[in-house]
Formats: sequence, structure tokens, C-alpha cells
Amino acid sequence: MTNPPRSHGRKAIRPTLQPRELIEQTPDLAGVWQARIVTLFPEVFPGVLGASLTGKALSDGLWQLHTHDLRAHGLGKHRNVDDTPAGGGAGMVLRADVVGPAIEAAQTHARGNWPVLYMSPRGPRFDQAMARDLARCDGVTMLCGRFEGVDERVLEHYGVREVSLGDFVLTGGEIAAQAMLDATVRLLPGVLGNADSTVDESHSAGLLEHPQYTRPAEWQGRAIPEVLMSGNHGKIARWRREMAEKLTAERRPDLWAKRQEPTQT
Ligand SMILES: C[S@@+](CC[C@H](N)C(=O)[O-])C[C@H]1O[C@@H](n2cnc3c(N)ncnc32)[C@H](O)[C@@H]1O
Repeated sequence: MTNPPRSHGRKAIRPTLQPRELIEQTPDLAGVWQARIVTLFPEVFPGVLGASLTGKALSDGLWQLHTHDLRAHGLGKHRNVDDTPAGGGAGMVLRADVVGPAIEAAQTHARGNWPVLYMSPRGPRFDQAMARDLARCDGVTMLCGRFEGVDERVLEHYGVREVSLGDFVLTGGEIAAQAMLDATVRLLPGVLGNADSTVDESHSAGLLEHPQYTRPAEWQGRAIPEVLMSGNHGKIARWRREMAEKLTAERRPDLWAKRQEPTQT
């Protein structure tokens, strides 16, 4: 006997679906945060997002993921998606008349506040504030580049925002998209069991997190700091704060300097 659809109010998802099936078979669920990925490699999704808390949230219908295969919009018998760079030079460029229709297919599902992002080393670096902003949107479309990137006219035409994972060059945008989605999805209501864990963690208040310890009380001759075993919650909170400030000042003088700036009124 097959399992009946699992109902979460407006959501209805069978618990037996595999992560990949979840992104192929689920219809749009009203009011659920959604990511649409334009990629030449749809098979690499959900990837790591199918595991652990993000994977459980996906199967529980707390967010949705859909891929749009660039190859499906390819041209001719061989479904070509790229061509040589205008003006010469190395590599290939994803064609505007292939990427454009793929973005349009993704955008037929867009509603409300729904940015289109291009994973790109030229963009501003992704950070916790961007993750928070994205989590407040209704959804996002992420364009994953390959080769030398995409024809600039597509970015202009659709008002696409470039976002970088960091100051390095990846082979394609898929890893960047998964990293940004992971950071975003964990901020969606209900995804983390304990919402408090996003309040104190690194980058949430411009500080790096204090050191963490767990049992055993002593390991390789190293004891857990005494204050953490004291049961004095005030002292523990103060110690954690001081450690967070010390670590931030030592390791990230840029973040520390930002914290010292007077707040603008
Ligand atoms: C080999 S890269 C192209 C790099 C491009 N020619 C340049 O120099 O800016 C191929 C694709 O990987 C993705 N990519 C590479 N580095 C990235 C990064 N740091 N952040 C986000 N996406 C990146 C982009 O989608 C890009 O189109």
C-alpha cells in the first residue's frame, strides 16, 4: 500500500520522496519560500541541501527547490548553449538566447519580492546580512554560470544582481548557489529546531562566536573552562561575550573596527 500524501496544512508532500524527486515532483506551494536554479547541471541539486536540517525542511515543505536545465533551452540538434567570446579570447560564453529563455521559464513561478541572482566572482561577497535579506524574500532565482560566464546582455536585460561566494574562481556557480541557499534556508522560520542558535552564532551580531565545549569534562589533559561548569548563567554569558569580542578583535579586525564605528542616526 502506498503512503497517503502527508499534509502540512496547505502543504502536501509524500514522506517517501527522495531529495531529487522532491525538486522534480512538488507543485508550487502557496506562501512557501522557493529557490529556482538555472543550471547546466540540474543533477547536482539538491546536493548537500538534501541532507540534515535543510533536507528535512525540504521534505517537510518548509522551502522548495526547482531546477531549470539550460540544456533544455539549447539550440539545434546538439542543444548548444555556448559560443566563442565576441572579440576573441579563451573559453566559451553562455549564449543570451539560451540563458534568457531559461530565466523566463524560472520567472513564470516568481511572485512578490523575488530577486534574480547571478553567481559570479565579480559580485559583492555574500554575507549573513544578504542571507537574512534573501530569507525575507518570497523566493529567489539563481543563475549558475559555467565556462567564461554569461553574455552580459542577459544580466542587463533582466536586472540580474551578481553575488560572489568569495574572492576566488570556481568552475561553475552550483557550489556557490548551494552555499548561499544553505545559509538562507536555515534562517527560514521552523527550519532550525532552536531559533536561538541563529541569534548568538558568528556574524549574527557582527561578532564571531565564542569557543564551544561538550563532554568529556577533560580530554587529552585539557579541561573545559571552569566558568562553563559553574552553573552561573550570568557569569557564563559574560565570559562568552568577552571571548566573542576577543576572538573577533584578534581574527577579524575588519569586523571589530565596524563594531567600534559610531552608529549613524
Ligand atoms: C570559471 S567561472 C568564470 C569566471 C569569469 N570568467 C571571471 O573571470 O569573472 C565560471 C562560473 O563559475 C561561477 N563562479 C566562479 N567563481 C565564483 C564565485 N567566487 N562566486 C560565485 N560564483 C562563481 C560563475 O557562475 C561563473 O560564471
